[in-house]
Amino acid sequence: MTTSHAPRAHWSSRWAFILVTIGSAVGLGNIWKFPYMTGVNGGSAFVLVYLACIVGIGVPLLMAETLLGRRGQSSPVGSMRLLADEAGASRLWQVIGYIGIVGAFLILSFYSVVAGWVLEYTVRAVEGFEALPKEAFGEAFGALLADPKRMILWHTAFMGMCGLVVLGGVTRGIERANKIMMPALFAILVFLLGYGAVAADLPAAFRFLFHFEPEAINRSVLFAAMGHAFFTLSLGMGAIITYGSYLERNVSIPRTCLYIAGADTLVAILSGLSIFAIVFAQGLEPAAGPGLILQTLPLAFSQMPGGHFIGVLFFVLVVFAAWSSAISLLEPGVTLLVERFDMSRPAAVLLLCAGVWLLGIAVALSFNDWSGFTVFGLGLFDLLDTLTSKIMMPLAGLLIALFAAWVMKRSHVADEIGLSGRAFAMWYNVVRFVSPVAIVVIFLNVIGVLG
Ligand code: PFF
Ligand code: NA
Repeated sequence: MTTSHAPRAHWSSRWAFILVTIGSAVGLGNIWKFPYMTGVNGGSAFVLVYLACIVGIGVPLLMAETLLGRRGQSSPVGSMRLLADEAGASRLWQVIGYIGIVGAFLILSFYSVVAGWVLEYTVRAVEGFEALPKEAFGEAFGALLADPKRMILWHTAFMGMCGLVVLGGVTRGIERANKIMMPALFAILVFLLGYGAVAADLPAAFRFLFHFEPEAINRSVLFAAMGHAFFTLSLGMGAIITYGSYLERNVSIPRTCLYIAGADTLVAILSGLSIFAIVFAQGLEPAAGPGLILQTLPLAFSQMPGGHFIGVLFFVLVVFAAWSSAISLLEPGVTLLVERFDMSRPAAVLLLCAGVWLLGIAVALSFNDWSGFTVFGLGLFDLLDTLTSKIMMPLAGLLIALFAAWVMKRSHVADEIGLSGRAFAMWYNVVRFVSPVAIVVIFLNVIGVLG
């Protein structure tokens, strides 16, 4: 089954890797999901647990997953097979790769539908939001959800945009796209924050996110926060293994991972601050749910000074964030098809995009024509979201921690991650004990086994 391949492509520099991985991490998770989840889960209680999960589980696992990819130098499945062989362990560990690729496929199917909403709103922002009463904006979003043709149209456009970049390959496609989008994204974000400080209610946003309120923490907040920590750092879905596999050996993994996680967290907090600053300044409802940025922000844009321009910038920002993340959900499957099944890159991209596109159509229909179809009381959209961030990602994360810290040779791990002494021992023990125990405890807690 193995054939000879051209030497594996590599990023052109360490900064390129940092940039593309930030591109993967920073996405709808930061700008759409984090604010609405924070709103729904009571503000600071959620933020606190989320930050703890990033530090205690997310960052150590991000390093572990990068390490697996760089040592494996192939697709998520191929890398796991090679590493299992190297450690004299069962090839069943390839399941990490498969969970990732299937999970990425599922995520992309609903991610693309949400990105499609954002595309629609980008066009509306360019046209300018009319100053209408509050309810009109909720109705406008509702009308989009009720219109499968429109949603499918935008979903198709977004999948086309993603396919196009991935078709270009590692450096000429993925790396180049991120080199344009990421700096633009940061510039826009800083500008929006400045606007929030000057023209909106930043102190209220700050209180909402950081007011310490431990009694508001409960099980559903815990599970939601852990799931989101995985989602936001792109963990367990093959994306990090794949991007890590294009990384040169002479790069320090811990340092790059700190930059990546730091940037992701910063963007989540900054967009949370600027969005809630606008929400509170306009006296809007923070717990609006998934429609938060699409219902409340357009209302604000229609009323505030300079709102037309700010609105366009904001939605361009969200499009860039979504696009650069979505390509990282496509690439793991593409490398698998190319390496394992000897497909050409264009054929692999086409096949995968077509599959995601079909499932995405079902997701779009789940908001209207097929809304009667539910499993465990969840529609297809919520079902896929729950299945991936609350089950598949933590499960993959658990397996990655166990593999890196219990199955691989300690000396190989130390050599690959490039840490020694205290620093290594600390990271190693976190991945060995803290992360797995935390994941299992939160899992059991939510399933109801504990307490
Ligand atoms: N991290 C992305 C976000 O926050 O929007 C979503 C994501 C991308 C999840 C890639 C998983 C993944 F593999
Ligand atoms: Na993110």
